[in-house]
Amino acid sequence: MTIQPHPDRVIIFDTTLRDGEQCPGATLNVDEKLVIARQLARLGVDVIEAGFAIASSGDFEAVQRIAETVGTENGPIICSLARSVKADIEAAAKALKPAAHPRIHTFIATSDIHLKYKLKKTRQEVLDITSEMVAYAKSLCQDIEFSPEDAGRSDPEFLYQVLERAIAAGATTVNIPDTVGYTTPSEFGGLIRGIKENVPNIDQAIISVHGHNDLGLAVANFLEAVKNGARQLECTINGIGERAGNAALEELVMALHVRRQFFNPFFGRPADSEAPITNINTREIYKTSRLVSNLTGMLVQPNKAIVGANAFAHESGIHQDGVLKNKLTYEIMDAQSIGLNDNLIVLGKHSGRHAFQNRLQELGFDLSDDEINKAFVRFKDVADKKKEVTNWDIEAIVNDEIQQTPELFRLELVQVSCGNNARPTATVTLRTPQGQELTDAATGTGPVDAVYKAINRVVNVPNELIEFSVQSVTAGIDAIGEVTIRLRYQGRVFSGHAANTDIIVASAQAYINALNRLQSSLEPNANQVGDRQSVVSV
Ligand code: KIV
Ligand code: ZN
Repeated sequence: MTIQPHPDRVIIFDTTLRDGEQCPGATLNVDEKLVIARQLARLGVDVIEAGFAIASSGDFEAVQRIAETVGTENGPIICSLARSVKADIEAAAKALKPAAHPRIHTFIATSDIHLKYKLKKTRQEVLDITSEMVAYAKSLCQDIEFSPEDAGRSDPEFLYQVLERAIAAGATTVNIPDTVGYTTPSEFGGLIRGIKENVPNIDQAIISVHGHNDLGLAVANFLEAVKNGARQLECTINGIGERAGNAALEELVMALHVRRQFFNPFFGRPADSEAPITNINTREIYKTSRLVSNLTGMLVQPNKAIVGANAFAHESGIHQDGVLKNKLTYEIMDAQSIGLNDNLIVLGKHSGRHAFQNRLQELGFDLSDDEINKAFVRFKDVADKKKEVTNWDIEAIVNDEIQQTPELFRLELVQVSCGNNARPTATVTLRTPQGQELTDAATGTGPVDAVYKAINRVVNVPNELIEFSVQSVTAGIDAIGEVTIRLRYQGRVFSGHAANTDIIVASAQAYINALNRLQSSLEPNANQVGDRQSVVSV
């Protein structure tokens, strides 16, 4: 894929795997990043920022493997972030080597606050570093993006000079970050207009925007930027990211799609042009949102635009009446357009492996034989308990099954007894990483508390549970429950997710997943988690 210097559409640059992954507890392992990258390619993003290659060996490996497997000739551009430092740029170039279309994204701060307190550098030094490091990156990779960090709070006159230097040294995309989410839409639009008017060589680069949502303005800022000439939008699925997050991909794409008539003239087309403004296959939006939420443990709030559970629900009688008469009365977009299929009843307990595999294909899952086998076993289990297995159930099963949490501790058994006038009691048996089966029991304020206390007695990692949530995948008493938890250990946050028709089992499994992530992130031998004698050793 080649991107023209002045596209008559918007380039979607997805940074879920880099900026999105920077939010506490959203940490993904390499295999999970690959699963998301494949889905981002199916969604049709133009650029995947796969990580920050120098940041850790895990980041390096993720960029490299995504470059290898998703960065094919017909696939998206694969990008790595790099500070304007030689070692960063070299690591990015090396990790990106297997990509058919690699991009190095290098940045340096330009606001006076950052120069004075963070970089301790003068404006002249920043100008010189920009020229030198962009040219160095260009010697290793053709496609170079440059970002003046904290552009939103930088002196525009200085910003123009930095951007001119970056373009002269070879940057083909200049990205304008509102790093701290400070600007308002008219200011941000004005900044982009100022850049177009005052940077002499700006016609040789695409203007991109990147923004955080600290004041809830990121999407509005971007749309104003588009009106003023920005042609690349850096965004994340579900808007996840540092602090209040990044601009949400699904909101930007659907705003440009639903309000195409309004935006078309800014692309020099007639208002009624049907040509799409982005390359995104909007029908993949809902699935991508669920996948990212499940794998990162970052829940989507019910009233979240486009992908929240209530986004297409009508509660008030007046609205329901109107929608029944004509959908257009209260709906500006069709739920189908984001792939929120009607909750079709697709399979039951008599459905065979072939039907299941066909349905997976129709839902767009591209699984290995081993993954299909595992998912089929889970499907049969659910079908035994639930009369009707819906598309959403299947998605929940597959998302759960393709979680790539290292299986250090394995849940072998969980059993609870509870009720009114009873003391909730749980017994659990876990298989340890060394293959030992350990059983323990505990009481708690409720059944989940008892289960978690029993697990803690086996695993023995003092942690703080900071979030616990149960959501049902579909309506009905036999619905699959999805449990998402987040725990804190020595200042770091780890998430866990599991789906099961039994929410106690899902709760136990989600907790084990989070503990396994925690355990696998520790240095070998740094903590002897689980290294104690159990009360009962089987
Ligand atoms: O928010 C920011 O400024 C960034 C840059 C590295 C682009 O993430
Ligand atoms: Zn950012």
